[in-house]
Amino acid sequence: MGVLQLKEVCYTYQTQYQKVEALKGISTSFDAGKVYAIVGKSGSGKTTLLSLLAGLDLPTQGEVLCHDTSTSQMQLEQYRREQVAVIYQNFRLFPLLTVAENVMYPMELRGTSPKQAREKAAVLVERVGLPETVLNRYPTMLSGGEQQRVAIARALGMDTKILLADEPTGNLDTANSENIFSILRSLAHDDGYCVIIVTHDRALADQADDVLELRDGRVVE
Ligand SMILES: Nc1ncnc2c1ncn2[C@@H]1O[C@H](COP(=O)(O)OP(=O)(O)OP(=O)(O)O)[C@@H](O)[C@H]1O
Ligand SMILES: [Mg+2]
Repeated sequence: MGVLQLKEVCYTYQTQYQKVEALKGISTSFDAGKVYAIVGKSGSGKTTLLSLLAGLDLPTQGEVLCHDTSTSQMQLEQYRREQVAVIYQNFRLFPLLTVAENVMYPMELRGTSPKQAREKAAVLVERVGLPETVLNRYPTMLSGGEQQRVAIARALGMDTKILLADEPTGNLDTANSENIFSILRSLAHDDGYCVIIVTHDRALADQADDVLELRDGRVVE
């Protein structure tokens, strides 16, 4: 009973000069309440897989199912807005907005009133272990680890139950990586999120509930 399921998913990049078969028949499923690590060498297809889960594109063959509905049957824009939240390696916070405004942004896009959004932002910032005082600061006034926690808080404001992260600890030292991972794990185990992380960090992957290793576009058993 997976929240997300992949059925024989293939993805081919078609460039002007060549075809790159990045995914060659991936079948697997992801449940709520668990942390998954996607690992594999550079070029093995990790980001491509995450992009399909994020609804940035459709598989060229096979299906990605979310709650049993194929993403090919959905409006991808709506899927991205309502079903999945994505966290990036380089945080991608808006530099000219305060922390509070960054976290409020997706909520306001969804029609939440500014007052409610601000209250919720305060709760979410606390949820990721940051003091309330960061709310009025700008992202550049925070450390990398703190910025990543803000990015997680912002993703939580999307009110989706699927969190996707491409190298969320890639720019962080060991202590900060552990901290970010423990937040993501708590979101899965305590709050029922389905958390899927792409990581190069084997030590981190070993702490996930399940590891999906890719090699040359296929799952290594
Ligand atoms: N836009 C693109 N056009 C053509 N080929 C691409 C494109 N993006 C990725 N590829 C190719 O698809 C394959 C998988 O790439 P992908 O980015 O998914 O790998 P990855 O596992 O995320 O690697 P990394 O660990 O370096 O981030 C690689 O052979 C890559 O060269
Ligand atoms: Mg990648």
